Amino acid sequence: RSQEKVTINFINRDGKKITASGSMGDSLLDLVVNQNLDIDGFGACEGTLACSTCHVILDQKVYDQLGPITDEENDLLDLAYSLSDTSRLGCQVCLSRDLEGVSFRVPDEMNDMRCSDDTGPKL
Ligand code: FES
Repeated sequence: RSQEKVTINFINRDGKKITASGSMGDSLLDLVVNQNLDIDGFGACEGTLACSTCHVILDQKVYDQLGPITDEENDLLDLAYSLSDTSRLGCQVCLSRDLEGVSFRVPDEMNDMRCSDDTGPKL
């Protein structure tokens, strides 16, 4: 893991932009947790691919750059609310130089797959 920093943006549910920098190889979830970013409920399962609360939406160009998604991530994404063609799970996206300055949109709705009752999204 190099010391080089990458700066990215989250577009939060209220439309506010949150800028954060992290080391190469850190996941988006690491960023949110380490810097205590104000994104409610993000990363509820701490990156163990069990919740889908870390769902983010990317620009097509960025999505293509990131390369293939694992089956595990895909399966969980299928269950996320507001799924788009360019959705990823933030705990599976790691910072690289390609991501410098990129924005990740946090969808309005999220779904914590660990909740067995079906009461809909908790915001
Ligand atoms: Fe739970 Fe990413 S933090 S799936």
